[in-house]
Amino acid sequence: MPVIPTGQLIETAEGTGIGAFNVITVEHAEAIVAGAERAQRPVILQISQNAVKFHNGQLAPIAAATTAVAEAASVPVSLHLDHVSDPALWEVAPAHGFGSVMVDYSKLSYEENVAETSRAVEFLNSRGLWVESEIGQVGGKDGGKPLSAHAPGARTSPQEAAAFVAESAVDALAVAVGSSHAMTSRDAVLDHDLIADLRAAVEVPLVLHGSSGVPDDELARAVSGGMVKVNIGTALNIAFTEAVRQHLAANPDDVDPRKYLVVAREAMSNAVAHFLGVLAG
Ligand code: G3H
Ligand code: ZN
Repeated sequence: MPVIPTGQLIETAEGTGIGAFNVITVEHAEAIVAGAERAQRPVILQISQNAVKFHNGQLAPIAAATTAVAEAASVPVSLHLDHVSDPALWEVAPAHGFGSVMVDYSKLSYEENVAETSRAVEFLNSRGLWVESEIGQVGGKDGGKPLSAHAPGARTSPQEAAAFVAESAVDALAVAVGSSHAMTSRDAVLDHDLIADLRAAVEVPLVLHGSSGVPDDELARAVSGGMVKVNIGTALNIAFTEAVRQHLAANPDDVDPRKYLVVAREAMSNAVAHFLGVLAG
């Protein structure tokens, strides 16, 4: 089925969480779609600026492959460009079929973040794309260096969130509520009172980043508390790489990558189906 604009897909959430999974290779896209089809849930495939860097700075090949996998899916799929700080990258998002972009100016000052996010919103909204952004300096530091909203310990202020959404006209907001990127253990504790306060403070969908480190019960509670888009990357890579390790340990003479990629892709799709079940409520 055709790829769905992200804003449209998010509107179908109706109290459930929409899983947004990071694509690095074409096997990621295949695994994520297979997991979504098994769970019978819509899904967002997201490619980060770092993944583009991994592909020698080339967005076109991985975007085209991901689009083709998405178009062959039997469930609704949207394409999202993730954690983009380079305007040269978000500017080409419409040409590559993306339905949304997360612009990440969270390390800039609040004022600069509003200015850069607004620029992206103006350009991308006029081309039908939905824009997500993240607040960097949370809670007001004492002249300290701006903190990424997803640095451990950082928290988004509901007042600042409301002001940021009003000033930037962004479509969705990534908030810091206790999760942190690239965790390989699932023991993050979310601040559910803060999620409730943020939900009350802003009308746009809230986005949870760094969800790999959040236990299932906490994820489900976050969704019932108002989180809509739930970003998951590392947990899929753990499943994938663990399967490769096990396969090669048991089959040290294998040289054909398909032998281990097939089990890795299956392990990743199982992880996706599991997460989507948790987010469905
Ligand atoms: O934007 C991507 C996500 O926040 C992924 O974070 O790799 O910690 O799950 P994660
Ligand atoms: Zn993230």
